[in-house]
Amino acid sequence: MDNNETAGRSITRNSIILGIFAMVTVGLIAVTQQGTAARIAEEKRRAQMSALTEILPESEHDNDLLEDTLVVDDRKYLNLPTPAVAYRGRQNGDVVAVILPVVAPDGYSGRIDLLVGIYADGTLAGVRTLSHRETPGLGDKIERAKSDWILTFNGKSLTMPEPENWAVRKDGGEFDQFTGATITPRAVVQAVYRALQYFQENRATLLQQTEEPANG
Ligand SMILES: Cc1cc2nc3c(=O)[nH]c(=O)nc-3n(C[C@H](O)[C@H](O)[C@H](O)COP(=O)(O)O)c2cc1C
Repeated sequence: MDNNETAGRSITRNSIILGIFAMVTVGLIAVTQQGTAARIAEEKRRAQMSALTEILPESEHDNDLLEDTLVVDDRKYLNLPTPAVAYRGRQNGDVVAVILPVVAPDGYSGRIDLLVGIYADGTLAGVRTLSHRETPGLGDKIERAKSDWILTFNGKSLTMPEPENWAVRKDGGEFDQFTGATITPRAVVQAVYRALQYFQENRATLLQQTEEPANG
């Protein structure tokens, strides 16, 4: 066996080993990515579920919220980039509240996803933050787990407070901003107000008694 032949075999063997390594690596990355995507989806689903029951506790409805949904598609008020699911709470068949998907597009770090629950009379049942990229320690006080701030919306409506007070204190309104962070709460206050406007404009569709899906 001459040197050339030995070198050729060695190159072939190394190429095969390299190829196997590449395939194994690609496979591992794919598996990891799939696992991560599944975990994120599961995390989102869990956040959605706990937000729904926090906004409208079991004692306030007798239907399955997940089975009584409608698709809403609105850029003007809800800022939804794509159609999204809203939930209806019922007591004895009557719609008592609607929980709307709402986007605040103008957080400090971009989009903030909210769920806004509104009783049939137009008062707020509750608001929860589903996802955001705001700064830990500054903007993340919009999370229920980090602060009570999001609870200040409970019971408020389009007229309570007056429209000019639907703003953070720094802008002349009645909602607290956070120390060193005005942009995040400002975005959320405005998004919640717009959700109330959407509810008022689409009240009939949102509260209609059929359980057929409908576009809002
Ligand atoms: C690194 C860094 C991260 C910040 N994160 C946030 C944030 O998440 N939310 C927020 O409202 N402001 C954040 N701020 C502060 C804003 O830039 C701004 O100063 C603050 O919101 C006050 O806004 P105002 O001057 O309009 O009242 C951050 C600032 C820095 C330097």
